[in-house]
Amino acid sequence: MALVREITPSVIWVGAIDWDRRLFDALIPLPNGTSYNSYLIRGSQGTALIDAVDITKMDVLIGNLNALGIKKLDYIISQHAEQDHSGGIQKLAKLYPKATIVASGKCKELLVAFNLVSEDRVMEVVDSQKISLGDKTLEFIHAPWVHWPDTIFTNLPEEKILFTCDFLGSHLATSDLYAMDEATVCESAKRYYAEIMMPFRQNIRKHLDRIKDLRFDLIAPSHGPLYSHPNFILEAYRDWSSENVKNQLILPYVSMHGATKAMVDYFVDAAIARGISVRQFDLARTDIGELAEALVDAATLVIGSSTVLAGAHPLALYAAILTNALRPKTKFVSVIGSYGWGGKMVEQIAGTIPNLKVQLLNPVVAKGYPKASDFQALDRLADEILAMHKELKIA
Ligand code: FEO
Repeated sequence: MALVREITPSVIWVGAIDWDRRLFDALIPLPNGTSYNSYLIRGSQGTALIDAVDITKMDVLIGNLNALGIKKLDYIISQHAEQDHSGGIQKLAKLYPKATIVASGKCKELLVAFNLVSEDRVMEVVDSQKISLGDKTLEFIHAPWVHWPDTIFTNLPEEKILFTCDFLGSHLATSDLYAMDEATVCESAKRYYAEIMMPFRQNIRKHLDRIKDLRFDLIAPSHGPLYSHPNFILEAYRDWSSENVKNQLILPYVSMHGATKAMVDYFVDAAIARGISVRQFDLARTDIGELAEALVDAATLVIGSSTVLAGAHPLALYAAILTNALRPKTKFVSVIGSYGWGGKMVEQIAGTIPNLKVQLLNPVVAKGYPKASDFQALDRLADEILAMHKELKIA
């Protein structure tokens, strides 16, 4: 059975909800599934499809187009070459041999590089270029680095709809076409922002500026619900991508035999007692998407690690490498943990975060199980973090 949903008489959602997908990019957990939003635009003199869907859901998209009796597409807009949106383009290009595929120059290059479509099928559009569908106009806005270099947004001024591809989206499978439960959508969108957009905060701010003078009432991303009250997500993105940090301490840790855990327990209580908000993550169990989301606002990150094979525990290094890649606006970093007979645990962790513009605070490393002097050092670290947060006027 097909599921098509009318947004306006000329704009129809024809995408696919992926309720069961649990992993993206062989990296990102999807606890709530996702959706691949695809939109059909019917103008008086032409029909366009904005984005395809993941190759695994192409039968859904094709079923939806068939249910609407779409025999001809004039344009297939490829806003972004990543396979969750463009994996099915080759199939669409065959089914609609007269359709012109529209993409940015970079997107065209990537579609060809990933063998998704042949070069001669793609029309390259520049920033602000328009295509007329008669009584409807598609205006393309180049928006590189959200999170690939190829993305375009599509503005449909006659309907006051802005299609934003990954930007402002969320990995959330839901029957709601629009963001109804804003708290739930906000959490999914924040997690998505952390995993996908956070490394490109400066570009995100530029794109927010770029679209601020456009007149749209509806934002239609390519994942998750649409926003009929756009300010809700635009304000959230402004806050997340700003330089403002909060009085928060994030503590991912791994403990082999309990010594590092004893330090974590003590340190978490010490921070809470000083009025610092804390979230701790046991790296042996944690969902890395939750950790990424927690890093969006936090002023301070402390990584806890046991020492193993003369270095940091691989799970602690994984958290450090991931944080380095995500480039949160964190201002202060430290390391706590324990060792038995030596090693370079702190040096290894510090060496894996060159992208972070942070001040490194004195680490606390105990020999074996922590002693009174180690707990005192943890108190001093908590004092130092509080002092730094006070300097920033967030505590
Ligand atoms: Fe949803 Fe970057 O693809």
